[in-house]
Amino acid sequence: MQTGTYYVTTPIYYVNDNPHLGHAYTTIVADALARFHKLLGEKTLFSTGTDEHGDKIVKAAAKHGQSPQEFVDTISGRFRDLWPRLQIANDRFVRTTDPHHIKVVQAIMQKVYDRGDIYFGEFGGHYCTGCERFYTEKELVDGLCPQHLTKPEFIKEKNYFFKMSRYLPWLKQYVEEHPDFIRPERYRKELLGMLESGALEDLCISRPKSRLTWGIELPFDSNYVTYVWFDALVNYISLLGYPDGEDYKTFWPGEHIVAKDILKPHGIFWPTMLRSAGLPLYNHLNVHGYWLMRDTKMSKSLGNVVDPVRMTELFGSDAFRYFLLREMQFGSDANFNYEAFIGRLNTDLANDLGNLFSRVLSMTAKYENSIVPQPRDKTDDDRAIMNDCADSMRNYIKLFESMQIARALEAIWELVRGLNKYVDTQAPWALAKEGKTERLKTVLYVLLACMRKVALVLWPVMPHAAITMLRQLGQDIDYGQNPELIIDDEINCFGGLYPGISIASSSNVFPRIDAKVMLAQLEEESRAMQEKARKLQAEKEASAPRPQVTFDVFKSCELRVGTVLSCEKLKGADRILKFSIDFGEGEPRQILSGIAQHYEPESLPGTQVCAILNLPPRTIRGAQSNGMILTAEKDGRVVLIRPEQPMPNGSLLG
Ligand code: MSP
Repeated sequence: MQTGTYYVTTPIYYVNDNPHLGHAYTTIVADALARFHKLLGEKTLFSTGTDEHGDKIVKAAAKHGQSPQEFVDTISGRFRDLWPRLQIANDRFVRTTDPHHIKVVQAIMQKVYDRGDIYFGEFGGHYCTGCERFYTEKELVDGLCPQHLTKPEFIKEKNYFFKMSRYLPWLKQYVEEHPDFIRPERYRKELLGMLESGALEDLCISRPKSRLTWGIELPFDSNYVTYVWFDALVNYISLLGYPDGEDYKTFWPGEHIVAKDILKPHGIFWPTMLRSAGLPLYNHLNVHGYWLMRDTKMSKSLGNVVDPVRMTELFGSDAFRYFLLREMQFGSDANFNYEAFIGRLNTDLANDLGNLFSRVLSMTAKYENSIVPQPRDKTDDDRAIMNDCADSMRNYIKLFESMQIARALEAIWELVRGLNKYVDTQAPWALAKEGKTERLKTVLYVLLACMRKVALVLWPVMPHAAITMLRQLGQDIDYGQNPELIIDDEINCFGGLYPGISIASSSNVFPRIDAKVMLAQLEEESRAMQEKARKLQAEKEASAPRPQVTFDVFKSCELRVGTVLSCEKLKGADRILKFSIDFGEGEPRQILSGIAQHYEPESLPGTQVCAILNLPPRTIRGAQSNGMILTAEKDGRVVLIRPEQPMPNGSLLG
């Protein structure tokens, strides 16, 4: 029996970079929600996709020496290929370069235009390419883009504007009157703050083709393309086949899941666009926080990005999904830290859940030949744990429905821990020893019946593992075929597990992880990634043109020739050599140089080098460096700069 419909979306991701933990998290949340609503017996639709127009993409494509289309095809494919590896079963994948999407953007734009909500005007603003948007003077922080901390470019041009300001008072009232339209509360407050600040203006929704051609042409002026956000937001209805598609009629309005970075476009641009076009608003905007890596933002240039593919290779996608959904309180930021990750997998999955399955299945094998026993009279203890089971399921549903997924899981884990305790207190081994076979059968039955419920409700979070656990309990449930397996009906009925059926004799769904070995490996991999990022950054810096310096500045650099007296590796630093060099100053000078991977220390005494001497001294691992030896560096190769002919020590370079 179907009780309703449920449509859930993720942001459509920019294709200027590969998918990482942040994208994986949002999409896993949406997948878990879609599965959860299937369990509730609803007809669901889950969509994700890629956002492929705009400056940012053009620049990224150029960097890779590709046309924008070639480039977006490649990266969009990477997103699409990742999802099945994380057990993400999206029903749709939308691309903003899809012809149908383009048509719908133009239709909505025309509707808004016909409504009199678009005008042509001149505009000067601070444009940040990273954000693909203009900032007003007030929004800048010390003259810099608040997101990227880079200096935006001041651009003045004629453009089309959406009269967003016309709808802001209505939106403010709507948000006030619908307390869960934007949730959790802190983001609703943030949005109301923006609406009250008076800083919001009309929205510039076009870009002249003279500056950008990679976009959707405006239906009423072929000299302009559509601003990426106006284009991208429309995906939520274009993929439903708006205006006449069955999916649109069935599923709109839906639920959006986004992170806090894109609260404004989803909380302000999108509802006002929908209002102007005369379309119904979405049901809820569900906003989550950011995943951080040891309290810092993940970034490619820092080399601290968590790769979801690697995580699933090492731990499996069930465990990875479980951790993300259990660790982050939806709405707040969370830290991804390998110790906590492995700790949680070992505690929650291996110790609590895995152990419950393994001990109960092996006891049923030992005492009942792996056949589900017929239960007899229930005791108060049995009734108590069965009530706990029903309560946990009820809480789980309530919390999941209100986006408190971490707490929903906690409710199930309370039950799992309770079941382990029930095993300890009922002690089936003692009942067997004392020949209390009727009681033994009842205890095992109660346990198996509750374990079946646990596995049933965990399907949205850990689909494969749930199905494996159910198979072990003799349950052949195909959720894909049988979405109307309704949790509600299961809560109060304990008859779903039939006595007499065969079950598995053992279970090892969540093996324990050797934390020490795994952490060492992860540590090594992070180090290699950071090293790679450092090199890339250094190369980027090396190839960037330097600003002009005056002749006087150059002359003030004390560059001299010297002869190496001795050279050895610096203790505790693999890449650094410690030199003693005669620059004709009377006393030899100590300089440290990071060239240990390129030169053997024994080969250097007696040879000449060049160095800059008037830098401030630096201390590395307790040793002082009084200058810097000059080298030439390219593509990982490093060579010393030496005079072409031997020169007296102290000779000046210039
Ligand atoms: N293309 C726009 C969205 C248009 S939707 C009509 C965009 N793309 S994005 O690639 O930058 O994706 C942003 C989204 O990725 C965030 O809102 C969030 O869902 C996810 N995340 C990216 N990094 C994240 C973290 N570090 N932590 C959690 N999620 C983050 O914005």
